[in-house]
Amino acid sequence: MPSSALFEPATLHTLTLRNRFVRSATWEGMATEKGAVTSRLIDTMVALAKGGVGLIISGHAYVSPEGQATPWQLGIYDDALVDGLRQMTDAVHAAGGRILVQLAHAGHFALEKAIAIAPRVVSDFDGLAKTPRHELSVQEIEELKGAYVAAARRAQAAGFDGIELHSAHGYLFSQFLSPWFNRRTDTYGGSIENRTRVHVETLAAMRAVVGADYPLLIKINCSDFADGGLTEEESLSAVRRMVPAGLDAIELSGGLLTGGKLSPSRPAITTPEKEAYFRQAARAFKAVLDVPLILVGGIRSPEVAESLLADGSADFFAMSRPLIREPDLVNRWTSGDRRPAQCISDNLCFRPGMMGKGVYCLTKERMETQS
Ligand SMILES: Cc1cc2nc3c(=O)[nH]c(=O)nc-3n(C[C@H](O)[C@H](O)[C@H](O)COP(=O)(O)O)c2cc1C
Repeated sequence: MPSSALFEPATLHTLTLRNRFVRSATWEGMATEKGAVTSRLIDTMVALAKGGVGLIISGHAYVSPEGQATPWQLGIYDDALVDGLRQMTDAVHAAGGRILVQLAHAGHFALEKAIAIAPRVVSDFDGLAKTPRHELSVQEIEELKGAYVAAARRAQAAGFDGIELHSAHGYLFSQFLSPWFNRRTDTYGGSIENRTRVHVETLAAMRAVVGADYPLLIKINCSDFADGGLTEEESLSAVRRMVPAGLDAIELSGGLLTGGKLSPSRPAITTPEKEAYFRQAARAFKAVLDVPLILVGGIRSPEVAESLLADGSADFFAMSRPLIREPDLVNRWTSGDRRPAQCISDNLCFRPGMMGKGVYCLTKERMETQS
């Protein structure tokens, strides 16, 4: 048995987790067309819980119908969805796991009715983004905050152990932060204080509803890694403004979903040096923040996580793609088999998801059919 602190119980606000590994939010493409939980999605979450990960963060769940990003995405926009979500959290808890819900709105990248937060032609986005309809009015920002608060109530009613606000990768909250997207000239645009306003207001409103003990996290870009996008300095300044509004931890990511090699899910993590590709930013954030930091992005081996824990760069370690391939990866490591994750970071897992077959490791399937 490895004796590392990685595999020992750790506290995240009011939650005691059995270890420091987190399943980072991963769109599974397994919900119904209306965003309801399916038995396959429950089975997938249970496999993760049984596989030993300390905390599961759900795939991004849309807080309002027009905020949906991808087909078969989980929804939390309607009270009618709560029963299914409750079945999922009950199943995870029965399997010894913990689960947060990630709340999201896709903004520019919404599937149907795109809502832009600033006028901007986005045709250079590989066809991913729809042409924005209009700049969100202040009234619509109020409605947006209301949608998050309503979703937070549903999250609690559904038995989630906490909430993560998705403010990374170019979705709506990330668009507010990013000067590339946010060209507003009112109190929600311009200075970093203004670009963080919607976060601070939404977090405070959610906190008022969920109470002091309920974990509220945010996933945020350390940098957009894009010309004219959010910089590390600005991101750090944004987080420092958000923490007093009621944040219990941050998950540090980076890049935009349009970003190719600098996307949040970078390809070809072939050496320990390429692992944990936001580690330098994590160090800078940890140096000035007094909330726990979850690091995501290319973590593939316990040794790398171990060294980052030991030198104080991060407190928890989140993975997405490795747990698609090996839902029981943490159990494998816990039992002493410390070989790196088998995931080769080729991103083929997105493909079946987009075809309506649910996200899974295509590379593993191909290897199995060849042998
Ligand atoms: C299939 C797939 C779906 C994803 N869905 C989400 C999501 O819903 N929310 C989110 O914040 N990040 C999402 N991501 C990004 C991951 O959470 C993670 O930040 C990124 O893949 C880097 O971690 P990794 O190297 O462990 O995969 C997704 C990634 C993949 C591969």
